[in-house]
Amino acid sequence: MSEMLDFPQLCAESKQLSGLTPQDEATLRELAALIVPALDAVTERFYSTLAAVPRTAAFIEGRVEMLKKTHRAWLESLFTRDLDAEYAQWMYQIGAVHVRVNLPVEFMTAGMSLVLRELLLLLGSSGSLDAEAKMRGGAAIGSVCGFSQLLMQKSYDSGKLAGELEKFLKITGMSRKLFDNLASAYKD
Ligand code: HEM
Repeated sequence: MSEMLDFPQLCAESKQLSGLTPQDEATLRELAALIVPALDAVTERFYSTLAAVPRTAAFIEGRVEMLKKTHRAWLESLFTRDLDAEYAQWMYQIGAVHVRVNLPVEFMTAGMSLVLRELLLLLGSSGSLDAEAKMRGGAAIGSVCGFSQLLMQKSYDSGKLAGELEKFLKITGMSRKLFDNLASAYKD
């Protein structure tokens, strides 16, 4: 399904919708030296919150150490890598991993608000930035979190469609091959 998406277009649209501007992207890179050394604590708090709630704890049980590593790498990427079509595809694929484990979409939303809160607290507690820099940093962090969330949640559309198709095939007894043949022969 992911190869059917136009990632450059999805990336551009998600930037527009989350308000992420080229100036914000430059601001995020300027913040890297300040924020990156403190990201371990953000990841720790993220997983301790998920572990404290029984319904989210069930998803991470037995794999917290592995998840901390991938989560920490993703967090750092917000401040260090190009937020381009490749990033959009990567986020979409991360979203697809969560669809595969049946993670409810509201947990994804909750996860992103935890990340946003921790990053804003980190920024706000900096003694070296003035109010203007904190305001610009806060806006950029808000937008990059929204941008990433949009891309991850896009996978839920495809996941839902795939689930519905599976149900349709079961109900009708139609084989996937027959469905594919009919779909490719169909003309509007
Ligand atoms: C800001 C929101 C989140 C981000 C950025 C994020 C990031 C990631 C990343 C980077 C991976 C690795 C993907 C891969 O293997 O390619 C991952 C996997 C996973 N995440 Fe998240 N995650 C988020 C929210 C959550 C939440 C809220 C939960 C649980 C309540 C969760 C549970 C999992 C699980 C169980 C896997 C492993 C799935 C598997 O490989 O079987 N994630 N996540």
